[in-house]
Amino acid sequence: MKAIYPGSFDPITYGHIDIIKRASEVFDDFTVVLMNNMRKKPLFSADERLEMIKEATKNLNVKVDLHNGLLVQYVKEKEIKIAIRGLRAVEDFEYEFEMALANREMCPNLEMIYFMTDIRFLFLSSSMVKEIAQFGGELKQWVPQMVEDKLREKFQM
Ligand code: COA
Repeated sequence: MKAIYPGSFDPITYGHIDIIKRASEVFDDFTVVLMNNMRKKPLFSADERLEMIKEATKNLNVKVDLHNGLLVQYVKEKEIKIAIRGLRAVEDFEYEFEMALANREMCPNLEMIYFMTDIRFLFLSSSMVKEIAQFGGELKQWVPQMVEDKLREKFQM
């Protein structure tokens, strides 16, 4: 069965990678799709984020794609019925609920499926990782080495 994992992945972290590993064992045709979150101003360009996603998932049974536009347009075009998202603490619920209801209004056939985060990544976010990188903190438990290298490069440390 086909499923996608949409996100802005700025940058991809072990929290995302954990969800990707688990979901790719459930869905045999699984694609990570880089999309834009209009509420965020990304640190990395789409090409940089795509490259990091590809590198981080190269040993997994997943495809990687890029879409500039609405999630619902992508799923309609590719005939996908399932999109997955990760859930961390309760504050993710409100945001995900709002997004799911808006998407359902536009595309009633799309089902969202939520994977609970691994406890190790409960408080992890891409913003947190960028903040730690900016001040030269330890990153190895949160992101793969090549993401760490890209972060260090961005903040020139
Ligand atoms: N572990 C660690 N961190 C996690 C996580 C997990 N399991 N699950 C989520 N996160 C974090 C991410 O690190 C990220 O942190 P940040 O807010 O500091 O950047 C945040 O939670 C969620 O980011 P991500 O999953 O990358 O996606 P997003 O919420 O930025 O993007 C889209 C959501 C891309 C799906 C949405 O904006 C979208 O659909 N865009 C296309 C346009 C569209 O259709 N808009 C209409 C929507 S109604």
